[in-house]
Amino acid sequence: MDNILEVRNLTKRFHGLLAIDRVTFALERNQILGLIGPNGAGKTTLVSLVSGTLQPTEGSVLFEGKPIHRLAGFRRALLGIARTFQVMRPFPGLTVLDNVAVGALFGAAGSTRQLAAAREDANRWLHFVGLDHRVRQRADALGGPDRKRLELAKALAMRPKLLLLDEVMAGLNPVEIEEVITVIKKVRDQGISIVVIEHVMKAIQSLSDRLLVLHHGEKIAEGKPQEVLRNDQVIAAYLGSKRR
Ligand SMILES: Nc1ncnc2c1ncn2[C@@H]1O[C@H](COP(=O)(O)OP(=O)(O)O)[C@@H](O)[C@H]1O
Ligand SMILES: [Mg+2]
Repeated sequence: MDNILEVRNLTKRFHGLLAIDRVTFALERNQILGLIGPNGAGKTTLVSLVSGTLQPTEGSVLFEGKPIHRLAGFRRALLGIARTFQVMRPFPGLTVLDNVAVGALFGAAGSTRQLAAAREDANRWLHFVGLDHRVRQRADALGGPDRKRLELAKALAMRPKLLLLDEVMAGLNPVEIEEVITVIKKVRDQGISIVVIEHVMKAIQSLSDRLLVLHHGEKIAEGKPQEVLRNDQVIAAYLGSKRR
């Protein structure tokens, strides 16, 4: 089996809090893994441990068979890992186009690029996510849904082999969600492997080859979406979180 990503016994402790507790899983190349769980379950932390925003307390992360969990984030980006942020982090003074051009300059394919070529690339990715009409605006002028599209375009411009999407559909309406689902499927069709965190169950079910469920930092279920969503422990975790 060709696993692009392997996570083994991964643990992250923030002072007293165990945010990720001995989590193990693998992602096959060109597959989409849905990562779900109630708020505070550890989903964003797990993505940060893979992308290099955080380093683990214990355990390992292997990318294409090599350990990467002690590498800085920019080194992992050069290897081909890109993520979006749940709370957008644009360069506010730059145009939408140049925000994405930065991704093109600093990603896996970037080091030899000229700015003009990076901007050309950026234009292509902005078209891909449906943001053509906003390229000249400042990034901080964008509304919610367009910010999500910008996050996605920035990450794609890095030409990743592995793309980590943290709630890119939050705040979108059903039509916009359908559009983003289509974009993500197109991304996978280009040979990119994807981890997608999402609360919209319809989106997760339609996208994911497999699902992994986190609860209080622990993996409580993993497998085919239909099976996982019928799992009693998973249902209890979600009902429990709704009552709070
Ligand atoms: N940088 C941090 N410092 C301290 N605690 C954190 C930090 N980041 C996340 N946490 C805590 O870790 C737990 C998991 O958070 P998070 O990964 O954001 O969950 P999710 O994305 O599933 O909602 C939460 O209890 C959160 O408060
Ligand atoms: Mg989160």
